[in-house]
Amino acid sequence: MANAKKVIESVITKTELVLPNNTNHIGKLLGGQMMNWIDICATICAAKHSNKVCVTASVDRIDFHHSIDLGDAVSLVASVNRVFNTSMEIGVKVYGESLKDGTRTHTNTAYLTFVCVDNNGKPIKANEVIPETEDEKRRYIQALQRRDDRLKNRSKEN
Ligand SMILES: CC(C)(COP(=O)(O)OP(=O)(O)OC[C@H]1O[C@@H](n2cnc3c(N)ncnc32)[C@H](O)[C@@H]1OP(=O)(O)O)[C@@H](O)C(=O)NCCC(=O)NCCS
Repeated sequence: MANAKKVIESVITKTELVLPNNTNHIGKLLGGQMMNWIDICATICAAKHSNKVCVTASVDRIDFHHSIDLGDAVSLVASVNRVFNTSMEIGVKVYGESLKDGTRTHTNTAYLTFVCVDNNGKPIKANEVIPETEDEKRRYIQALQRRDDRLKNRSKEN
């Protein structure tokens, strides 16, 4: 496959410390702040995989399963799940970690679709991706179902 890259070549890990201006009035991380970190981590992953400008086309529903407290660390891990034609799905796993006792909790998984574009914002072909591990292969298969659901929703909206 020409221009194909392994998933591992563009995995991005980003770690943040939850500071007072990232929290609400009861000291919990704001959902919007987390979404910003998710978008940035995923954007870097998409651009590193494709070596092209990538724009966010959509973000799937994000559920907040556990809150993250002021003073905790937040780790985000982004990887390419699957490349379609000009678009690709990036998955981001988010973990909260208490720096007091080392407890680490998986708080979210987000799926974002990025589109590679040229200098005029026109979609262009993205590099293929090669899943190698069992997890990467599972995500590759599951990404196709999510894309089908997205495209169905998109056609309903138009
Ligand atoms: C994303 C964008 C480039 C798509 O352009 P478009 O003219 O609609 O392109 P197309 O209909 O030809 O679709 C191109 C690809 O995007 C995918 N796509 C478009 N909208 C999508 C959506 N809402 N969700 C998922 N995928 C989407 C298509 O499935 C297609 O993928 P494929 O080539 O892999 O099959 C364009 O809508 C855009 O520039 N949007 C603004 C992006 C932006 O500014 N983001 C920053 C934050 S808001």
